[in-house]
Amino acid sequence: MLLGLRSESGVAGNPRNRRRSATPAIMRMLILALALVTMGAIPPFAAAQKVQLSVDVSKAGAKIERNIFGQFAEHLGHGIYEGVWVGPDSSIPNTRGIRNDVVAALKALKVPNIRWPGGCFADEYHWRNGIGPSRGVTLNPNWGGVIEPNTFGTHEFMDFLDQIGAEAYVSVNVGSGTPREAAEWLEYLTTGQPTTLAKERASNGHSDPYKVAFLGIGNESWDCGGNMTPDYYLSQLKIYSRFVRNFNPAQQTKQQMLRIAVGPGGGEPRWTEWTEAIMKAYQHHTWSWDINGLSMHNYTVGQWPPSFASVGFGETQYSQFLKYTLAMEDLITKHSAIMDKYDPEKKVALVVDEWGAWYAPLPGSNPGFLVQQNSLRDAILAGLNLNIFARHADRVRMANIAQMINVLQAMIMTDKEKMVLTPTYYVFKMYVPFQDATFVPVTFDAGTYTHGDVSLPRVDAIAGKDTAGKLWLAVTNLDPNQPIEVEASLTGITPKSAAGETLTAPKVDSVNSFEAPKTVVPKPISAKVQGGRLTLTLEPKSVTVISVEQ
Ligand code: AHR
Repeated sequence: MLLGLRSESGVAGNPRNRRRSATPAIMRMLILALALVTMGAIPPFAAAQKVQLSVDVSKAGAKIERNIFGQFAEHLGHGIYEGVWVGPDSSIPNTRGIRNDVVAALKALKVPNIRWPGGCFADEYHWRNGIGPSRGVTLNPNWGGVIEPNTFGTHEFMDFLDQIGAEAYVSVNVGSGTPREAAEWLEYLTTGQPTTLAKERASNGHSDPYKVAFLGIGNESWDCGGNMTPDYYLSQLKIYSRFVRNFNPAQQTKQQMLRIAVGPGGGEPRWTEWTEAIMKAYQHHTWSWDINGLSMHNYTVGQWPPSFASVGFGETQYSQFLKYTLAMEDLITKHSAIMDKYDPEKKVALVVDEWGAWYAPLPGSNPGFLVQQNSLRDAILAGLNLNIFARHADRVRMANIAQMINVLQAMIMTDKEKMVLTPTYYVFKMYVPFQDATFVPVTFDAGTYTHGDVSLPRVDAIAGKDTAGKLWLAVTNLDPNQPIEVEASLTGITPKSAAGETLTAPKVDSVNSFEAPKTVVPKPISAKVQGGRLTLTLEPKSVTVISVEQ
């Protein structure tokens, strides 16, 4: 910014400005700077704000389950077709039809699980269309009414998971399907006995049973999944929970499949009543049905229909949108409190299996394909939500960002043979060490960042001890104008050094494009260590993750 002012002072040498040359150049520079700051055209001189963090490693908390870093891939727009599946005959490098570049990128994220095939799509999906040599060609009425070729089906999904090393979260059709259809799908997938369905699976190329780690019993059954009342859904849930069995011999005593019921989609009474109904029934459940998770969907939208722009915005929309996203905290607290009433031992996880930013569709895109850009704001939004999940690690044990590729808040965008990694991708990558880490409490005075009538915490932070015992710290500076000097005192360890990565970019709406894919990428950062304290300067609008060596 100072450089910019210097070039302004150069303009004073222009003949048209000579009349003003009586004012010394330095004065003119200061007056101009003050005027621009007052007008909001440039941020004030950035003096680092100080934030003290206290990290007490001796007070470790719950495990931050790796499954909170789960992904969601729906048959929607180019989420699957083009994003994952290009077919074995494609000129795009692939393994059995699945893009190699996408697989490599997702492997680096250590994706724990993928929820599939939807979304709303799941409640109209008939799995038999997606197996065998001749596939049914159907429609996708939810998402643009386009042709669904069914070339990506059960075997392709399982192959994809195998290639990236993730677990299956299969959502069965409770909307237009039947318990029998879902039960047969699970038998087809999991039985090791020579049943007719197992033989059919073998003839389609997979003789061994597949592992299905998670079963979603419906999706948004209160809306696109059939507009059910809580009571109606509950009666369906009991039937599906009882009859849709996992027969995989390796999942009978250990690694049992976890059943996830449809849960709330907001915080209003309609949703708290839904959570009440399911959890109350759970409290009195008998041997014949059970659940291990209650799903919750919560997008950061701002207003409906989604109309915030995903790119080409300034500080006003940046601050407003981050304010909306922080509502996740209250929503989790609200539904957790209801769950605590009926399940004080926290046996049922709150599974936030659809979350993320939902903006207006990019101009020129098919509105049914939910195409949006992914900016630095999304990276910060992702970090804030992951921090919230980590702070609720005792109850929130799984989450799935929507959606993995080319749809909503994606990790990856593709255009034919091209692929670009989004700012959100990099946050997920930086947070990998938090997968299965033990939560370590951090106390700090966040301070306040204010823009117009929006006030936000200036800083957010979490800490965790990884499975090897190393301490990790993630700190977000929400303020787009001021750097922050963090001073962290650590109890329980004596730090020798601390370093990691920081993610920021020139503007709040900076994006990675196919032409400029490295605009928002992490760069190295290290802390000063002195007298057992770490000092670290965080750039404005940044997410930073460091590890501490002792
Ligand atoms: O992720 C897009 C859609 O949002 C999902 O299909 C649905 O479950 C939700 O309303």
